[in-house]
Amino acid sequence: MKKFVIKGPIRGAKGEVNISGAKNSCLPLMAASLLFKHKVVLRNVPIVEDVFTMIKLLKSLGSKVNIDKSKKILEIVNTRKHKLIVPYKLVSTMRAGVLTMGPLLGKYQNRNIYVAKSGGCSLGVRDINYHLAGFEKLGAKNFLTRGYVKIISRNGLKGSTYKFPKVTVTGTANLIMASIFLKGEQLLKNISIEPEVIDLINFLNNSGAKIEFLRNRTIRIKGVKELISANHKIIGDRIEAFSYLCVGAITKGNVKVLGVDPNFLKSELKVLKKMGCKILIGKNFISLSITKKLLPVKIKTGPYPQYATDNMPILLALLTNVLGKSEINETIFSNRFMAAPELSRMGAKILINNNIAHVQGQKFLNAAECISSDLRTTFSLILGAMSANGTSKIHRIYHGLRGYENLTGKMKQIGIKIKIEN
Ligand code: EPU
Repeated sequence: MKKFVIKGPIRGAKGEVNISGAKNSCLPLMAASLLFKHKVVLRNVPIVEDVFTMIKLLKSLGSKVNIDKSKKILEIVNTRKHKLIVPYKLVSTMRAGVLTMGPLLGKYQNRNIYVAKSGGCSLGVRDINYHLAGFEKLGAKNFLTRGYVKIISRNGLKGSTYKFPKVTVTGTANLIMASIFLKGEQLLKNISIEPEVIDLINFLNNSGAKIEFLRNRTIRIKGVKELISANHKIIGDRIEAFSYLCVGAITKGNVKVLGVDPNFLKSELKVLKKMGCKILIGKNFISLSITKKLLPVKIKTGPYPQYATDNMPILLALLTNVLGKSEINETIFSNRFMAAPELSRMGAKILINNNIAHVQGQKFLNAAECISSDLRTTFSLILGAMSANGTSKIHRIYHGLRGYENLTGKMKQIGIKIKIEN
């Protein structure tokens, strides 16, 4: 199996990184294409493994999909009727497969839809009970049969009010997509307002949907008859952008990320500034440089606009190198500190208690061999290895390749050599 090989310590990363389209925008947008009779064109598509898994999934349902990797354009045509079974094989390799539930339910009212139920994942329990409760409010019953969720709305979908007990990103996307063609009006309360959800709302509204914000986390969706064809540019990936800014920070370098709206990272940039990083922002770029010693910090993750849980493992690696005591309170997932034991193998001092990580920053880490268990952990370990003395090896890199486009190429652009070995 392939591994990353990194010789540290690496100092002074310097240069510009072009940020790709957001994976977590692209996947729901691809799922939303199921609602359309006409062609959907997505631009600024990230060329990452999860997108190819979603292409396979859409094709297995009967969609025609074409990707131009060099132009980063995806064309999806859904003129044929879809198969209404989303297979376990694909949902088990990519949890975002659950995003097909909403659009299939919205488009094929009165039909039986079968979607493989996703199991647990390395981040902890990731239920879909709020998605299903929301569908029930619309009039769709669900049954579990042989590991598949069967959903059916025998009398079609009707508008109602549903308040999410807890903010959920894919739950919000699923309920929005299910509601596009319903009879009447749907009120959704306590929704996720992550930039990727707003991207989905903009895409649907530009295609004829009627989704309106009433308050900060409340929307009203008026059912429409059909959507017109769509041509949409995906927003820049805020998690990828933050990851490369932290490469700048951990190597005490000077890194500029291009193609991302700095407003998407307000909470994260506040933290970096508080630590002493010099941050400059422009319309579609952020640059970071280090001119003084960094300070420890205390943070808490939360739904947007709070500090993103996906950016937490990245900061964790940085903090292991900042002298003093830092604290991270993870409020979204029950098991999001998987990078900690691996970073500890490099000599990091991290103590976890009740989902709070207490980090005692060290002068330097020492190289070690370690294993990555999810996408963001991979980047966290890469940062750890960059700051460690000696050659580190990171196994199971396929996790990283699922969500970071051209990782080694982009690192090279800022002067960092990461070898991939078999
Ligand atoms: N939850 C429930 N019941 C539900 C839905 C969610 O209990 O029906 C809980 C989850 O177990 C979790 C919390 O609510 O504790 C939030 O989960 P959410 O549904 O928001 O997560 P998600 O939609 O499955 C998306 C991203 C994740 C990101 C989270 C949080 C996509 C495809 N995935 O997951 O991204 O960490 O939101 O922001 O958008 C990644 O890119 O590496 C990644 C894991």
